[in-house]
Amino acid sequence: MSEERLVIRRPDDWHLHLRDGAMLEAVLAATARVFARAVVMPNLAPPVVTVRDAAAYRNRIGAAPKGGGRFTPLMTLYLTDDTDPEEIAKGYNAGVVFACKLYPQNATTNSQSGVSDIDRIRGVIARMEALDVPLLIHGEVTDDDVDVFDREAVFIERVLAPLLQDFPGLRVVLEHITTKEAVDFVTEGPARLAATVTPHHLMAERNDMLGYGIRPHLFCLPVLKRARHRDALRRIVAAGHPRVFLGTDSAPHGIGDKQALCGCAGIFNAPVAMEAYATVFEEMGALDRLENFASHFGAEFYGLPVNEETLILERAPWTVPESLDVGGGANGGAVRPFLAGETLNWRVAGIGPPSKGPVL
Ligand code: NCD
Ligand code: ZN
Repeated sequence: MSEERLVIRRPDDWHLHLRDGAMLEAVLAATARVFARAVVMPNLAPPVVTVRDAAAYRNRIGAAPKGGGRFTPLMTLYLTDDTDPEEIAKGYNAGVVFACKLYPQNATTNSQSGVSDIDRIRGVIARMEALDVPLLIHGEVTDDDVDVFDREAVFIERVLAPLLQDFPGLRVVLEHITTKEAVDFVTEGPARLAATVTPHHLMAERNDMLGYGIRPHLFCLPVLKRARHRDALRRIVAAGHPRVFLGTDSAPHGIGDKQALCGCAGIFNAPVAMEAYATVFEEMGALDRLENFASHFGAEFYGLPVNEETLILERAPWTVPESLDVGGGANGGAVRPFLAGETLNWRVAGIGPPSKGPVL
């Protein structure tokens, strides 16, 4: 018999873009209605590079509307060629900096100040290793001679594998994985290596983006791959691998910036993320694994307690709105969510009180 109601420990989002200003004010509640904590990406313009930047950004998130949900942002620093290891140590020891983010220069949105060559930050990485500060990686090479669909697999081979060898104590999260190569590398890798998986990489493949006309709202980085890669991701989350956990990579851009001559990469999935994951897990007959993926494995990897509260999902069809107003006239004044206009069978009914014992 199929479940009608699902009560899981309240989940966390281990990879999220909240932006700033009017956009932050408009999008935060979509996350806070579901997730208790989120690792907040630092690719603002200008990026979050100092402890002072991170603390100020945390305050702005704290002041933004959350729709009543209790929410803790976990802040990250954006690594550049010039990052000072002392800044990381200072932020980590002060409890402001949770992790550091490596964007290869020009790999994605607002990564112009990213790292031009991993060798430039070896001192920084050594310090992170010594302090046990996790390194979160956008795993794509940016060389012009590497095809966009191969950027992740080539990164693993050329950059990630040597990095793990050179820094045997470094804790690494390969973010938003998209390929079978990444699945294999992470699952065969050491206990200090983990990966996050987005809802859109579990649900969509490149034909959905390009096979029936071009769908700019499905464009993100790393770009959607072939169906067999999506299926490898689906298999590993359904199998319940403890080092593969939830990270939405919700990345809002104004509709005008998505539907443009050169459209931005990023999918705004916060309004549908848990509902989409539930849909995928149900399709795979793995609803009983959803709680581990969403609410346990990430916390365990990061050494944090799981959340006390619960999240209640119920089977109740609803249609995803076409857009969300972001006010201020910013980039067309609206963002379009993932799965806009589609009907989903699972709905988030709300946050419940702490559970006693296992909830599934
Ligand atoms: C992200 C963004 O817009 O900030 N875009 C994306 O396509 N995922 C950046 C990133 O995570 O690559
Ligand atoms: Zn991201």
